[in-house]
Amino acid sequence: MSAKRSMQSVRGRRDPQRAGEEAFRDTTKLLNALPHPVLAIAPDGFVIEANTASESFFGISRSILLQQTLAHLLPRDSVLLALVEHVKAKNSAITEYRVDLGIPRLATEKLVDLFVTPVSDFEEGVLVMIQERAMAEKMDRQLTHRGAARSVSGMAAMLGHEIKNPLSGIRGAAQLLEISATDSDRALTRLICAETDRIVKLVDRMEAFSDSRPLERESVNIHTVLDHVKRIAHAGFGRHIRFTENYDPSLPPVLGNRDQLVQIFLNLVKNAAEAIGEAAEDGEIELSTAFRPGVRLKLPNSDRSVNLPLQFCVRDNGPGVPAEIRQHLFEPFVTTKTSGSGLGLALVAKLIGDHGGTIECESQPRRTIFKVLMPMYAPLDGRSDKKI
Ligand SMILES: Nc1ncnc2c1ncn2[C@@H]1O[C@H](COP(=O)(O)OP(=O)(O)O)[C@@H](O)[C@H]1O
Ligand SMILES: [Mg+2]
Repeated sequence: MSAKRSMQSVRGRRDPQRAGEEAFRDTTKLLNALPHPVLAIAPDGFVIEANTASESFFGISRSILLQQTLAHLLPRDSVLLALVEHVKAKNSAITEYRVDLGIPRLATEKLVDLFVTPVSDFEEGVLVMIQERAMAEKMDRQLTHRGAARSVSGMAAMLGHEIKNPLSGIRGAAQLLEISATDSDRALTRLICAETDRIVKLVDRMEAFSDSRPLERESVNIHTVLDHVKRIAHAGFGRHIRFTENYDPSLPPVLGNRDQLVQIFLNLVKNAAEAIGEAAEDGEIELSTAFRPGVRLKLPNSDRSVNLPLQFCVRDNGPGVPAEIRQHLFEPFVTTKTSGSGLGLALVAKLIGDHGGTIECESQPRRTIFKVLMPMYAPLDGRSDKKI
């Protein structure tokens, strides 16, 4: 049915003048409907098209914008000017997150994501889209999460020492008592052992945060990691779920610690399985990988940016992340589960940060995606991390 409908609309496009369609053929109207500033830049740098959102972004009317070059609108050292030159030279699109455009006229600092792409049939012309919010905010939040993880790490180190030692004493004493206990008392000594074990496990999980040894990294094929995680899930907590894969077989390796990469994806897949729930009959988790060479992350307080071309996603068709915790998802102790620790995603964020990558989440009912972005395996002289 839906295939039929889309066929009709394809044919409909060739039909003469259907009511209301005219507006959709008018690209200016389409551009004006977009909430993000879009500018078309001619080879000589002049703005030759600007949508309504650009007018409000720059605080300049379209007719004035069209008399300016991009260099007029931006400070001389603006990242956007460098990106436009780069795109012209390489003739390939580029995305840069978390850029401060540094326009002095605008009172507040504008952190934006920039999408710059060449326009075919228009030699050395480029299209620029500026996106305020979303990604930039996410990155900011993530840096806060790393801070939160760091604060857990000090506490974890202390707990490891102050709690685990006395606990092993308590457990040992309970085991001794068990030998001479009556049957009814034995239930109590077992309870003591089980509960102390539970606390030790929790402290062990927290101790992962205080591990500040330098990472032992090697070239890792992420597909073997994902397959391993899938096997673990299949054999246990994910028995009720259908797994699908969408791998890019030519994906280059990641420079990482294999055990930690397993831990990262195990946590993500476990959360996905728990969100889907045991009762669901059509539970599905998709693991996918892709190469996105144009994705870059601007480092805070620095003019350096890193390439994060490796993208690994875990998608599930569960009910979605509850709205009330979305803002704090990667912070420690945030959980909606009765027996949850809220440490899973905090640890994931910390480990990915240690690998020089980043994680983001998009969620709506039946479609929750955790997207991990990582740098590529590179020779240690760092030559492949060149600035443009
Ligand atoms: N795939 C997902 N779908 C829906 N909610 C999720 C998903 N992953 C994580 N969450 C939410 O994030 C919370 C925190 O996850 P996490 O840090 O792993 O801690 P825990 O699993 O112990 O609760 C979960 O309690 C859950 O509410
Ligand atoms: Mg979890």
